[in-house]
Amino acid sequence: GRVLRVPDTGLVLLVGVSGSGKSTAAARWFRPTQVVSSDACRALVSDDENDLSATGDAFELVNAIVAKRLKRRLLTVVDATSVRKDDRAQLVRIAKEHDLPAAAIVLDVTEGTANKRNAGRTDRDIPPRVVSRQRQNLRRDLKRMDREGFRRLHVLRGEEEIAAARVEPER
Ligand code: CTP
Ligand code: MG
Repeated sequence: GRVLRVPDTGLVLLVGVSGSGKSTAAARWFRPTQVVSSDACRALVSDDENDLSATGDAFELVNAIVAKRLKRRLLTVVDATSVRKDDRAQLVRIAKEHDLPAAAIVLDVTEGTANKRNAGRTDRDIPPRVVSRQRQNLRRDLKRMDREGFRRLHVLRGEEEIAAARVEPER
């Protein structure tokens, strides 16, 4: 399987639609304390995990935790869809403000795979149209994501490639 090199001191973005397997991969590749999850932050500021009005506050929290951890020179992984360029840019900027590199690992699965998995989830209800919009954003940006300031950009295509990959932090 592929070896995904990421900075051992810096920021790692997991990028992919809902149901692409970001949280599952994060648990395999990183320690729980290294992972900052937008869903976990949403849960902290809202009693209803599907309350989208909490999104702004949730991401303020994500950004604040990322900044605190990077200030302390800790490897930090953001588990959020990050399919929108502006969302990635904001996080890359925080890394740059701390003079640290950022890497991105894109989990590129088909809508069929994501929808099939989401249908079986008990934690959240994600309609196919949401995945479709996320995937449009991602597809459009993929070609130019190498110009967004990432030191490393890994694009994993399909379930097998994701399952076989492992992460290797490098200095
Ligand atoms: N899943 C699976 N096989 C994988 C990866 C994930 O069956 N190789 C399942 C998970 O158990 C989960 C669902 O697919 O029920 C979604 O995976 P998850 O990692 O939660 O996806 P995320 O990308 O984190 O989705 P979200 O953005 O909605 O948090
Ligand atoms: Mg998740």
